[in-house]
Amino acid sequence: MKAKIVLLPGDGVGPEVTGQARAVLEAVAKKGGHEFAFETQLIGGIAIDETGDPLPPATLEACKASDAIMLGAVGGPKWDNPNAKTRPEKGLLAIRKGLGLFANLRPVRSYPELVDSSPLKLERIQGCDMLILRELTGGLYFGKQGREQTDRGLRVFDTLEYMDFEIERIVRLAFNLARGRKKKLTSVDKANVIESSRVWRQIATQVKEDFADITLEHQLVDSCAMRLVTAPTSFDVIVTENMFGDILSDEAAVLTGSLGMLPSASLGEGKLGLYEPIHGSAPDIAGKGIANPVGTILSAAMLLRHSLGLEKEAASVERAVEAALAAGARTADLGGAKPLSTSGMGDAIIAKLG
Ligand code: IPM
Ligand code: MG
Repeated sequence: MKAKIVLLPGDGVGPEVTGQARAVLEAVAKKGGHEFAFETQLIGGIAIDETGDPLPPATLEACKASDAIMLGAVGGPKWDNPNAKTRPEKGLLAIRKGLGLFANLRPVRSYPELVDSSPLKLERIQGCDMLILRELTGGLYFGKQGREQTDRGLRVFDTLEYMDFEIERIVRLAFNLARGRKKKLTSVDKANVIESSRVWRQIATQVKEDFADITLEHQLVDSCAMRLVTAPTSFDVIVTENMFGDILSDEAAVLTGSLGMLPSASLGEGKLGLYEPIHGSAPDIAGKGIANPVGTILSAAMLLRHSLGLEKEAASVERAVEAALAAGARTADLGGAKPLSTSGMGDAIIAKLG
């Protein structure tokens, strides 16, 4: 097949890790007789430096005209000035919104070879395999926000807003994803305090009527945060609001050992999706060639699956990662006596592609 893929390397370690994901995609294309055309565009801090805009219109246009987008990371201390007119992170929020990517899939699984790097006891983390589905274009991130001077002082506010259809479409997707897994859905909210959560819970209960084969449980976000640490293997699919999902997915990500391992996909109504590792720009190690590219390479596998419909190829990339780990390939964050460089790890994975 032919596909147009936009690369958005962004900041920090972004260019290094997306470079390896591209190499893997090129190897997959060669083996399968596919034609992937790559085009690199600006986003984040580097886009601010070059154009003044964290999401230049040319980037959004190129993404709209593509089949899939592979992103590295945005942000860094250079752009952390609280008085700056704009921020790199705005580019990421704008591209999610601009492309209607309302569903963020964050699979979290423990690799047998890496359980020793987990902060949890072996018996707690072993066999952990969950999918966090985070609503990505509404909720607290996109409600009205602002500040105003009042006679009592400065008033500042963020609001958590949803339309009912926005809740319904993410919850429905969660049920469908659970159907392809262990058929268990945990809907996470704060229905004991906030109104939007009460409606969220009500809608989840209604949608459940169409999914007799799926078990639904509701859980409050604070106790969910606890349960992620005490019983991570008790989850299958978790669906939740944007900000809750941001927090819970970072928590879940470290349970498996390294943040560097985890991929994500952001999807909308159609096939177009944006794929990126869960980790950030890691400015402390940027440019050193030691970043772990696995999260980005596994994101490339998700790209093959969800945007290009190449399930066989996606699975072969995932198996190649497992095989490389089993053969002892480790980047510095994963420990090990002789850590591989970013490209060394990419090569080790490509060598295992079936
Ligand atoms: C993430 C990140 C982003 C978010 C930031 C960089 C805007 O933390 O993708 O989880 O908060 O969504
Ligand atoms: Mg986050």
